Amino acid sequence: MKGVVLAGGTGSRLYPLTKITNKHLLPVYDKPMVYYPIQTLVDAGIRDVLVVTGGRNSGDFLRLLANGKEFGLKHIDYTYQEGEGGIAEALALAEHFAEDEKICVVLGDNIIEGSIASAVNEFQQQERGARILLKKVPDAERFGVAEIQGDRIVGIEEKPKRPKSSYAVTGIYMFDHTVFEKTRYLEPSARGELEITDVNNAYIREGTMTFSYLEGWWTDAGTFDSLMRAANMVKESREAKLKKPAAAL
Ligand code: G1P
Repeated sequence: MKGVVLAGGTGSRLYPLTKITNKHLLPVYDKPMVYYPIQTLVDAGIRDVLVVTGGRNSGDFLRLLANGKEFGLKHIDYTYQEGEGGIAEALALAEHFAEDEKICVVLGDNIIEGSIASAVNEFQQQERGARILLKKVPDAERFGVAEIQGDRIVGIEEKPKRPKSSYAVTGIYMFDHTVFEKTRYLEPSARGELEITDVNNAYIREGTMTFSYLEGWWTDAGTFDSLMRAANMVKESREAKLKKPAAAL
């Protein structure tokens, strides 16, 4: 499976922090934000990684990440998103890179505590379709929200005023190669973007969407509060890990 990190967009919710740089280059505790989704993919055993970015700061990603040596990679692919057409538009740019393989897509501002390795392995076994990761949250209206019946997802609503569950669709998605065909039929949403939720709903209608629950904490980092929360969570986990061996003595 190949990995795709989506790191474009204007980061308007973080203005003026994003006035002169890309959101995904901002610090989250001791690392630039984009390090975390790349590490998530690498920890799941994915070695082919594409970073989709855009705007004035796209060159900075190359300087920062180079060939991915810090992640134990030999090479990182890059592609450039012109304009601000949304997550699904950015994803469409990965078509050449994917070469008909399955892909695992991580939004560049999604940070997790645990691992997605088991979900990635399960998706390897899945013949076709897609798999998403859900997380129970107290503020579901900020996210794509899954409606679940029994062991099936019957629909996803993007930022609903009255969420049908407390399960947010995290920004970690696994797709088969038909995802690119599906992105071609999307219409821009009210916010003028091609929405990843519409791609996921296409898989749900087709009956090929599966899901897992994400273990450990998860946060986005695209608002002032979530950016600060992300930094605190990373710091706390780092400290908890350092304390563990001492406690075991
Ligand atoms: C995006 C997706 C949303 C998802 C979220 C996860 O929202 O549209 O469905 O729950 O990422 O971080 P955005 O950050 O573009 O508002």
